[in-house]
Amino acid sequence: MQINNKVAMVTGAASGLGEATARRLAREGAKVGVLDRDIVRAESVAKDIGGLALTCDVTDEKAVGSALAALAEWHEIPSIVVNCAGIGQSEKVISGGKALPFANHKKVIDTHLNGTFNVIRLAAEQMIKRMPDEQGQRGVFVNTSSISGIEGQIGAVSYAAAKAGIAGMTLPLAREFSRYGIRVVAIAPGLFETPMVGELRQSEVDKMVAGVPFPHRFGRPEEYARLARDIIENPMLNGEIIRLDAAFRIGGL
Ligand SMILES: NC(=O)c1ccc[n+]([C@@H]2O[C@H](COP(=O)([O-])OP(=O)(O)OC[C@H]3O[C@@H](n4cnc5c(N)ncnc54)[C@H](O)[C@@H]3O)[C@@H](O)[C@H]2O)c1
Repeated sequence: MQINNKVAMVTGAASGLGEATARRLAREGAKVGVLDRDIVRAESVAKDIGGLALTCDVTDEKAVGSALAALAEWHEIPSIVVNCAGIGQSEKVISGGKALPFANHKKVIDTHLNGTFNVIRLAAEQMIKRMPDEQGQRGVFVNTSSISGIEGQIGAVSYAAAKAGIAGMTLPLAREFSRYGIRVVAIAPGLFETPMVGELRQSEVDKMVAGVPFPHRFGRPEEYARLARDIIENPMLNGEIIRLDAAFRIGGL
């Protein structure tokens, strides 16, 4: 799908991978909805790229509905949706002999898995009303899983489960939406240099980077954004989970 002049909605766009994607899509000519629960930073990104900042908690049905309505009023219904909103997790299930509070688990699942699903279901409801382009396409969803969803590390059980859930939604969504000409692809990033990783202890970070084969470093948010752009542009990419990890595999124990 051509990006120029399309409306793109990016969640978690005030920081990290979402911000880089919002900036990249704007450079490619998209009108970008910069959605985040952090409106101050969303506004600053939107100002830079001529986008529309919208306060939106992705788990909130009303907020996502209002954001979609605002984008339709601003230009049109989005044909590109990139789901990047997320929170980190570094908590064991049993710590000091005590069970992880259930609410902590629920929050991680809610933000990643339910939030991504909420955005998809409400955006797809609008997207199917669009006229298809000359290739029969009405839209593209790019979702953010993680290599943790495939080989999750200690201290990230809820996060790994949520990211595995996002990966698992990919094919059934792509199959269901094929009748509308809407594609669904997930990116499973490895280690990327964003504020989320800044929350990890330096010793954990050093240990992780030591295991990255090549390039032997963290990924740059712009490299995620480039893959998101390629997915949007290439009509044959559908129903797939693409690792973006420099051949990194998270070790056990
Ligand atoms: N950085 C990595 O190494 C890495 C690796 C794999 C997957 N990911 C995933 O990539 C995505 C982006 O992460 P990042 O590293 O850019 O993190 P980040 O912290 O830089 O950005 C996440 C953004 O999401 C927003 N957000 C959080 N909860 C929200 C909610 N409920 N509604 C709306 N916005 C919300 C935050 O305000 C923030 O701006 C996340 O889903 C993360 O799990 C990151």
